[in-house]
Amino acid sequence: MRVRKITKAVFPVAGLGTRFLPATKSIPKEILTLVDRPLIQYAIDEARAAGIKEFIFVTSRGKSALEDYFDQAPELESELRRKGKTDLLEALKETNMDSGAIAYVRQNRPLGLGHAVWCARRLIGREPFAVLLPDDVIAGERPCLLQMIEAHAETGGCVVAAMEVAPEQTSSYGILDISEDMGRIVRARGLVEKPLPKDAPSTLAVIGRYILTPRVLVNLNRIRQGAGGEIQLTDALAIEAKSKAGVFGMRFQGQRFDCGSKIGFLQATVAFGLSRPDLSDEFGAFLHDLMAMQKAAQ
Ligand code: G1P
Repeated sequence: MRVRKITKAVFPVAGLGTRFLPATKSIPKEILTLVDRPLIQYAIDEARAAGIKEFIFVTSRGKSALEDYFDQAPELESELRRKGKTDLLEALKETNMDSGAIAYVRQNRPLGLGHAVWCARRLIGREPFAVLLPDDVIAGERPCLLQMIEAHAETGGCVVAAMEVAPEQTSSYGILDISEDMGRIVRARGLVEKPLPKDAPSTLAVIGRYILTPRVLVNLNRIRQGAGGEIQLTDALAIEAKSKAGVFGMRFQGQRFDCGSKIGFLQATVAFGLSRPDLSDEFGAFLHDLMAMQKAAQ
């Protein structure tokens, strides 16, 4: 099957991040830091590793720290150069974007994820594209988005990252209605946004990575407000699931952390801290002692 190469990715970053107040009163939640890098850097790195060349941010008021983060910092850089801090200069390099590689569009009203993606339509044009929700951080040997681009090449349809969740958690996710289960990949006959457990068609949940065909943008034009009064990407995908090209869920390899929640953020901090060669020994020993102290106090 011949499919077009995917080079554009949309990052919806307009959310208020109220779950992390007061921290997010003055900084975007995407700048919250896992070890020493902001959440957004993990999503950008994953996209780059999957071959993405154009990065489209859907932003809102109060997100200028994000724009600055991806800009050059001439004073800081010359200061580091003067002091011979080559390792830090190297670390800064990953935040640099080629001229014109990054674009910002504003979502002027919080009308939901579907609306955020629709706001980027003119920059996407008529080609398949990726969407990454930076709240979902996925650790693994192979970048999740790369696995999805491969699944798109196999199926030719839209692909969503999918993961089994506990039955009582369906109301936090888009849930797939599976028509054919091929193991790693499933075909969906529909999708439902945040159903109550009793209404959920399965326990296979959508995680924040999508490969979308341009028809989804057309579908977004057609749909009305759905769950939570928002324009839901899930509803536009549900229309697409009825088409010949279809929508597929891909059970990705890797560990997903829900960094949109406090517990998920803490779990990610511990896991990423322990996976860093420069920190793991000391941090691991600290956690070990802390657990022992807690046990002794019980
Ligand atoms: C969004 C989507 C939902 C998906 C989830 C994954 O919800 O609407 O379908 O399952 O991301 O993280 P949110 O968590 O932004 O409410």
